[in-house]
Amino acid sequence: PPAGCDHREDQQHLEHRKDLQFPSGGTVRRCRVLQWDSEEPVPRAELLSRVAGVRGLLCLLSDRIDREVLDAAGPDLKVISTMSVGFDHLALDEIKKRGIRVGYTPDVLTDATAELSVALLLSACRRLPEAAEQVRSGGWTTWKPLWMCGYGLSDSTVGIIGLGRIGQAVARRLKPFGVRKFLYTGSGPKPETAAEFGAEFVPLTRLAEESDFVVVTCALTPATQGMCNKDFFSRMKKTSVFVNTSRGTVVNQEDLYNALAQGQIAAAGLDVTTPEPLPTDHPLLSLKNCVILPHIGSATYATRNTMAVLAANNLLAGLRGEPMPHELKL
Ligand code: NDP
Ligand code: DGY
Repeated sequence: PPAGCDHREDQQHLEHRKDLQFPSGGTVRRCRVLQWDSEEPVPRAELLSRVAGVRGLLCLLSDRIDREVLDAAGPDLKVISTMSVGFDHLALDEIKKRGIRVGYTPDVLTDATAELSVALLLSACRRLPEAAEQVRSGGWTTWKPLWMCGYGLSDSTVGIIGLGRIGQAVARRLKPFGVRKFLYTGSGPKPETAAEFGAEFVPLTRLAEESDFVVVTCALTPATQGMCNKDFFSRMKKTSVFVNTSRGTVVNQEDLYNALAQGQIAAAGLDVTTPEPLPTDHPLLSLKNCVILPHIGSATYATRNTMAVLAANNLLAGLRGEPMPHELKL
């Protein structure tokens, strides 16, 4: 807590008072901050009881902000700020109905997430975790012509599902690897954006059929939920690699498991799953050709710090009634 704050520690909570400068004529108003001071998510019951009467709420993607939370907060709640670019954990219809403003953190995590997407793609297509495990377990006996071979990006076709901020940043990073052709899907063609990569807008089915690598970077919406399913995987090439850094539920995981287990596709890299965390006995974890990471797309120290500051600034601007640095249009 900042020096001079009146704070008390109560188990895992920090509660402190802080003076904030409001804009109208330099009036100073007091703002009481209740902070869940733990890396672990705030337990639901705790959130429901502590949220009562707040004017602003700063949350994480692990906090489901639905009607129950909004009811528990009551009519004083005016601003929600999420420390994430994804907002599928927010009940936007209900939030809009109540006239609550929403802040989020686009752009600042684009580079980190694109970098991780590329790392995951390379890990999956060149079998890095599997190969590293061979070194540890003594499976590395000698150099063998076909041992640990995978698939490379040179002269390949890459399909991007959702050519948004992160999708474009992925394409920008993959292009120098010698990708021959980019395909993309979305709600419609975006020729100006796509021109940088010479990317072609295609239906999802064609993207599945022609891509050597599929990278999912779209937002989770009712339209994208379960979009990568049995039909999708059955259209992919046996030699193709699937990567998802958007949200777990864009993928039907049972269908993905079957596609990987039956050799319908070569490999997958997932930074997001359903549920999160993925249970350690989940069938996907038994597969050598599936690399799974614990939702670390934006996890660089600098990015998380910038996200936190942006989320706080969004909240404060909303409380002051000012334009937020990044406000979601509802
Ligand atoms: P953007 O809003 O810039 O991009 C979202 C993209 O989703 C848009 O290009 C949009 O395409 C596309 N999309 C929407 N509907 C469909 C559809 N039906 N089919 C295909 N594409 C569709 O967001 P960002 O790039 O900043 O972030 C994207 C997502 O990545 C976030 O929502 C979040 O879920 C996830 N994410 C994950 C991280 C991680 O740690 N793994 C880190 C950060 C983000 P169009 O413009 O044509 O509608
Ligand atoms: C987001 O911001 O939506 C990511 O999933 C985590 O950074």
